[in-house]
Amino acid sequence: MDRKDFLSQVGISAAALLIPACVGGLSSCTKASNNTTAPTNVDFTLDISTGSLSANGGFLTHNGVLVARTNTSTFLAVSAACTHEGTNVNYVASANDFLCPNHGAMYDSNGTVTRGPATQNLSKYNTSLTGTSLRVYS
Ligand code: FES
Repeated sequence: MDRKDFLSQVGISAAALLIPACVGGLSSCTKASNNTTAPTNVDFTLDISTGSLSANGGFLTHNGVLVARTNTSTFLAVSAACTHEGTNVNYVASANDFLCPNHGAMYDSNGTVTRGPATQNLSKYNTSLTGTSLRVYS
């Protein structure tokens, strides 16, 4: 391999590393197969003593439902899939709202669209905390 071939191959490898995270399907921009259908008959329980929900501002996705702990220690649960094209939304604790990392749709804490391109609201679910056991249900 001469110098020109080496540099050519290194250049291709470096370019591959620069591909945006969304193309690789990494967690912050995970597509949900264009499935924008909100889960129904939701009823599950999470232990909030450890993990993402143990601290204010944390959130996780479970069975298609995003569960968030606000900065005031209350809990929110909405359908995780953005109603635009199904990318999982993220919880933004500082604004107490939900943001889609794909095209920037925003939803308030009730799941109501506040910025497009999404036009339909997220579904909101009930939460009930008993000790460290958080029930999320329709
Ligand atoms: S998939 Fe969420 S804004 Fe497009």
